[in-house]
Amino acid sequence: MGTSLNTPAALLQSELGASLKGRDFLALADYTPEEIMFLIELGVALKKTQKSGEPFQPLKGKTLGMIFEKSSTRTRVSFEVGMYQLGGHALFLSRNDLQLGRGETIDDTARTMSRYLDGIMIRTYGHRNVVELARGATIPVINGLTDLSHPCQALADYMTIFEHKGKLQGLKIAYIGDGNNMVHSLMLGACKLGMHIAVATPENYDPDEEVADIARDVMQQTGATYTHHRDPREAVKGADIVYTDVWASMGFEAEQAAREIAFKDFQVNAALVKHAKPDYLFMHCLPAHRDEEVSSDVIDGKHSIVFDQAENRLHAQKAIMAAIM
Ligand code: CP
Ligand code: NVA
Repeated sequence: MGTSLNTPAALLQSELGASLKGRDFLALADYTPEEIMFLIELGVALKKTQKSGEPFQPLKGKTLGMIFEKSSTRTRVSFEVGMYQLGGHALFLSRNDLQLGRGETIDDTARTMSRYLDGIMIRTYGHRNVVELARGATIPVINGLTDLSHPCQALADYMTIFEHKGKLQGLKIAYIGDGNNMVHSLMLGACKLGMHIAVATPENYDPDEEVADIARDVMQQTGATYTHHRDPREAVKGADIVYTDVWASMGFEAEQAAREIAFKDFQVNAALVKHAKPDYLFMHCLPAHRDEEVSSDVIDGKHSIVFDQAENRLHAQKAIMAAIM
């Protein structure tokens, strides 16, 4: 990886690169380990090209529609900037301003938008909305977060780990907290990439069993492992990466108080990270609630790479868009 032959243009023209054209990006489960590594490599190459100041605009004249039903800072800005850097254009579409908000069906929306656009990114609640949109659309659809998963974030995260550690296979990632959309995508990614993922959640907040079953299936083929724990210290033991996310995700704000009680022993703090490897990395998809799921000294400390993760949303998503659109 990283040789001068691996320019974004050369990667996109390769057999693997060309084979991704027209695909949706709904879940890491739909991509092979080779395809995921390809997108990471393309993300790294696009980052290098962008930083060199050299323009690379394979999406000239193309438009991405971005449907948002939930708030966003990173996803909105990185997709819009990413499209601009690739020579294309992005449209911000809030659900309330679309006829979708007045009851037009997802299928009719997908069919209409396919007549104007070259790709759609959607952030929504139910995962079935994304699946339905992709079924109705004749253009690629990208999952920008659902209640079930957040694959763009996980791809950017594995790119970030790869940059810091020089490899992915064999590394141990510990996820502490809520069994939510973030951990689901991290589990699928880790299992595809031959990593060891240990997840610690309190009772009643476990990862989805169907996602865990897919992860277990995948790990048979890749040598990865997935373990589930109630004691965060057990999960963090010997970890290369310690990852956490908010205790109440978007759509679950009403449960905040109850969740603060349920998660009180699941804060990532100085005492917990003592059990990780001395050169561990701390990761969080952001936005973070300092001194809730993570103590300020850990998220602002020297092991934290949270803003590298945020930056890599741009580069990893440019890889996705350049490959599939
Ligand atoms: N991590 C992430 O998706 O951030 P936003 O909610 O700000 O897009
Ligand atoms: N789990 C969080 C991720 C935000 C990027 C949420 O869904 O709110």
